[in-house]
Amino acid sequence: MPPARTLTSTVSLVFSSQLRARQIYRHPAFRFRMASSSAFGLKEASLVRSQGFIDGKWVDAKDGGVIKVTNPATTEELGTVPEMGLAETKEAIDAAAKAFKTWSKTTANQRHDILIKLYALMKEHSDDLARMITLENGKPLAEAMGEHLYSASFIEWFAEEAVRTYGEQIPSPFPGVRNIVIKQPVGVVSILTPWNFPSAMITRKLGAALAAGCTAVIKPPPETPFSALALAELATRAGVPPGVINIVTTQSNVRDVGREMCESPIVQKVSFTGSTPVAKMLAQMAAGTLKKVSIEAGGNAPFIVFDDADIDAAVEGVIVCKFRGTGQTCVCANRIFVQSSVYAEFASRLAERVAAFKVGNGLDKETTHGPLIHDRAVDKVEAHVEDALANGAQVLLGGKRIPGAGSFFAPTVLSDVPADALVNREETFGPLAALTRFETEEEVVAMANNTAVGLAGYFFSRDVGRVWRVAEALEVGMVGANTGVISQAVIPFGGVKESGLGREGGHGISEYMNEKLIAFGGL
Ligand code: SIN
Repeated sequence: MPPARTLTSTVSLVFSSQLRARQIYRHPAFRFRMASSSAFGLKEASLVRSQGFIDGKWVDAKDGGVIKVTNPATTEELGTVPEMGLAETKEAIDAAAKAFKTWSKTTANQRHDILIKLYALMKEHSDDLARMITLENGKPLAEAMGEHLYSASFIEWFAEEAVRTYGEQIPSPFPGVRNIVIKQPVGVVSILTPWNFPSAMITRKLGAALAAGCTAVIKPPPETPFSALALAELATRAGVPPGVINIVTTQSNVRDVGREMCESPIVQKVSFTGSTPVAKMLAQMAAGTLKKVSIEAGGNAPFIVFDDADIDAAVEGVIVCKFRGTGQTCVCANRIFVQSSVYAEFASRLAERVAAFKVGNGLDKETTHGPLIHDRAVDKVEAHVEDALANGAQVLLGGKRIPGAGSFFAPTVLSDVPADALVNREETFGPLAALTRFETEEEVVAMANNTAVGLAGYFFSRDVGRVWRVAEALEVGMVGANTGVISQAVIPFGGVKESGLGREGGHGISEYMNEKLIAFGGL
């Protein structure tokens, strides 16, 4: 049993942070920030936080700088968050280190209870949190609700994992010695997340970190900081003590902030989701102090349709897999390989389904697919289309950016895309389905594996022997066999090759814990 004062001090820390929160409420600066929350139209405006979060306090940048956050569907400004830098990052890390001293001593059951409370609060505020995701990321409300529930499921899952961090007893070859292995939290964790899942990519890391007894400094992306800040607000209400979660918002100072989060000797682990080039840079920085690193980086997922597939199921599978988040997920199908004898049928059915998409503002109930995150993302899809067309591909549908406000590209299906086209070599991250023809299983497996990355891979086939052969042969961390949906809190999420290190979700709590041997001698 822990000393009773551990829980008492946790509770008193919570009360004192609530008191501070009330004082901040009365501050004129806070009233100004509350006013800017009207752009969100939430039921509970206080979920819109426009300041960073350090040591349980909502704070501005020291130099008063701000980042403007816009809605990608309209380009309208949603609000601002602080442009923080090195000094604020150091403060956040120090606060996390201080809080680790008490948070790491809480029992697994205490952490479980707080996380379950956070889960309940997330569910209670589902409509607001989903709306916030739509506003800052652009994905349609139904899909934003899907992300929100996915996000909450990580908190629930890791609350349950917290109480299962079993150790081990290992028989010793030496007489009179007993080996016991215990698990302990690694310490302060740096969490760096992308804009494509403003909420879920945080909870997948933060849930595991908190459950393990770690404290965290989070750098959300400048495009979608509000979901992260709302999570900090709810975590405070759930009883997470000051300093356990800290959020540093930044855009122009990202290099300094990222470097400190990876190089500080106080930080014991870095967890990053984002592009492979940035992942390599952060891993190099973290290597100086041999930190633990978890990385979920880019994918270039193959999606294979064999001639023995259920074609209807394969079309539905590719719709959800390729066009989820308007094509902006690391596990989206990027290279679609279709066997010659079913190629024409698959292509025309896919184009017919995609033609029914309704592209627009995610707040609109009719909208099935939203904008891309910004114009640079549109430029990339456009470049991939142009390259494919210059190399012999044909447009079955779409192929162009949509003019007007917002970053929109028409959902596109290209046929006869050469295997070496740019779209097949790089992650497109947009609504472009590029179809490439193949003849044999051996040929398509070789094409699928002909890439430096390996996050997810998908295929459709009704031949049970082929299902096993291809699932085992694909060089990826996750396979969808006859499904285009693999994402769940319970699975080991992660890649091989240059798609990353470690696994998140599932038993990912172990990435936030060290095993310690205690060899008892002299028995
Ligand atoms: C990602 O795109 O990085 C994550 C996608 C998922 O969790 O489904």
